[in-house]
Amino acid sequence: MSIDEVEMKELIAAAVAARSRSYSPYSGYAVGAAVLASDGVIYAGCNVENAAYPLGFCAEANAVGNMIMGGGSRIVHVVVTGPNGDICTPCGGCRQQIREFASAETTPVTICDADGVIVLKTDVGALLPYSFGPENLRNAEPAK
Ligand code: THU
Repeated sequence: MSIDEVEMKELIAAAVAARSRSYSPYSGYAVGAAVLASDGVIYAGCNVENAAYPLGFCAEANAVGNMIMGGGSRIVHVVVTGPNGDICTPCGGCRQQIREFASAETTPVTICDADGVIVLKTDVGALLPYSFGPENLRNAEPAK
């Protein structure tokens, strides 16, 4: 399933809107993310920081959590929006979070600036080559 131009605009708008909700008083680095799920619904999230710094959540992880909570199951396309002048690619942990529900190779990931202007088009396979996912566990032996 690939995304059409209208859906792409909606997905970018959802990520930009999510970014405006960012709670990032410690880093000052606001991030918004939106995923289009295979049910056709867009799920969004922003980063939520914490005074206990390591407990903060990334925007992508929150978008994925919202997708699961909302009944979505597979990710068709991801948009991440960060500050202007930067290319906010998903952090390593978020790449793995996305990969769990996406095609390991082909799911597109589009990075935008704060205004929703596309700054990079990539995909899960490029961001996380030779990834480890649910398929790897199919040949697991019973735990001893
Ligand atoms: N951040 C995200 O939300 N997503 C990423 O993929 C990169 C980093 C957030 C975490 C933290 O709140 C802020 O950006 C600075 O690292």
